[in-house]
Amino acid sequence: MKYRHSFHAGNFADVHKHVTLLALIAALQRKEKGFLYLETHAGRGLYDLHSADTHQGAEARLGIGLLQAAGGSHPQISAFLEALARARTNCHEPDAYAGSPVLAALSLRAQDRGVCCEIQAAECRALERALNIYPRMRCECIDGYQGLAAQLPPPERRALVLIDPPYEEQSDDLARAGDAIGKVLARLANAVVALWYPIKDDRDLAPWLARMAEQLPAPALVAELWVHPRDARVGLNGSGLLIVNPPYQLDVEMQEWLPELGAALGATRQGGTTVRWIAHEQH
Ligand SMILES: C[S@@+](CC[C@H](N)C(=O)[O-])C[C@H]1O[C@@H](n2cnc3c(N)ncnc32)[C@H](O)[C@@H]1O
Repeated sequence: MKYRHSFHAGNFADVHKHVTLLALIAALQRKEKGFLYLETHAGRGLYDLHSADTHQGAEARLGIGLLQAAGGSHPQISAFLEALARARTNCHEPDAYAGSPVLAALSLRAQDRGVCCEIQAAECRALERALNIYPRMRCECIDGYQGLAAQLPPPERRALVLIDPPYEEQSDDLARAGDAIGKVLARLANAVVALWYPIKDDRDLAPWLARMAEQLPAPALVAELWVHPRDARVGLNGSGLLIVNPPYQLDVEMQEWLPELGAALGATRQGGTTVRWIAHEQH
């Protein structure tokens, strides 16, 4: 596998994914009962934005760089910026970018726990180091799809599953991740699942989303943020999250902060944001 997340750490798509992830965790934490946070494709947890690995944070400048310059007036956006600041303090790296395992680890309560899977050995070792100080989050150096089968259903009977594949082969990853959602729901029907997907070309994406809408046995919405025209040939035009079994009112809350996040990340001129139900809309 050639994919290294370091190149992309802190870009607009990471920021979109991570603000949404913290909103999901906060929504699950409205209930006292603990839950399992399970991540199938975890990455290394911390990224040095001065390193050659991240191209000295080139993509991050148009992601977290723009958001920090704009600041966040909505509480959900400020919560993300505060979590990132805490992660930086905890690792003594003022310019690090924190990936989803670290941001989630920071948010877990005593009654919650997390398991993060990463298949590449070097990335996984780095992840173990990054998570060392967070006792509620465990790291497994395995295929995340096998991790799903091993961890679900959890004794807590509540779970948030983040599926974030590398999309080296977009259609393969979309198909595999779509199947994985079905397997998660077969093991735990009320699991909240968030699947990140790239917006590169709607001609590939729309049929897949239509298939998902048809197949999903549970409520599902998509939240998208794009910074280039959706069919531009720049590589990555936008970032999408398919959220299955979204917590109550998440759609309404996202409608409040996603446009502000989009504006900060440059989604206004040629881009945009949307939150829409694709299956079994909840009222
Ligand atoms: C997009 S990155 C993850 C970024 C991370 N979720 C975040 O937001 O900080 C995808 C990661 O999945 C890993 N990976 C690829 N295939 C995998 C698999 N089958 N199981 C577990 N990890 C995998 C890659 O090595 C890469 O580190």
